[in-house]
Amino acid sequence: MLDITKTKFIRSAASEKDFPDGSFPRLVFVGRSNVGKSSTINALLAKPGFARTSSVPGKTVFVNLFMIDEQAWLVDLPGYGYAKTSKAEQQRYSALIESYLSRDRKSISRMYMVVDARHKPTQLDRVMADWIRSFSIPYTVIANKLDKLKKSEIEPNLARIRSELCLPDDVKLIAFSAQKLTGRDELLRDVLDASLGAGRCSE
Ligand code: GTP
Ligand code: MG
Repeated sequence: MLDITKTKFIRSAASEKDFPDGSFPRLVFVGRSNVGKSSTINALLAKPGFARTSSVPGKTVFVNLFMIDEQAWLVDLPGYGYAKTSKAEQQRYSALIESYLSRDRKSISRMYMVVDARHKPTQLDRVMADWIRSFSIPYTVIANKLDKLKKSEIEPNLARIRSELCLPDDVKLIAFSAQKLTGRDELLRDVLDASLGAGRCSE
């Protein structure tokens, strides 16, 4: 069984030549800029400050690669869709995300799509969910920042995320707060399960 506490930062990849080789399963975190991908990874690993976070969107500008217990890659992708980033930079991030996903697609055991529990998913979120489904990649959606919702808002917001992203019933939607660690055990179980599968299919 994978020991999640034995996670090391390996490198930041700025281009395809730095993406990992080999067949270890990849667990890949994607989502809009500033939605809390890096914070979610830190909550999962119980290592505050491990993946770099920021209140300024666009903090993760590279594909950050972590190795869990010498057995699985954990991949923190740059966030998409931050309007204030220059067009050129946005294009650079999109190209980097796209080249990572197309190059490593077959080794991805599971994608973790992080959305903001407060908001309706954006057009780009819907495109990402469609893309994941079009390649039949297993995925889990994490509705982060749950601590910012009133109790009465939780159920309707989760239902809206499910319907806007067209999530089939068997796709898990984890109500999560990286700040309060809500949903952490459920995410950990999911990650441990996903890491058991090697890359889903060989070349
Ligand atoms: P990029 O790397 O820019 O794409 O951002 P990211 O998605 O990695 O977000 P990051 O983890 O850097 O968090 C963005 C901001 O949201 C930070 O100010 C975090 O403290 C805050 N944040 C993240 N998760 C939570 C949460 O569960 N609750 C609250 N209240 N704030 C959160
Ligand atoms: Mg980040």
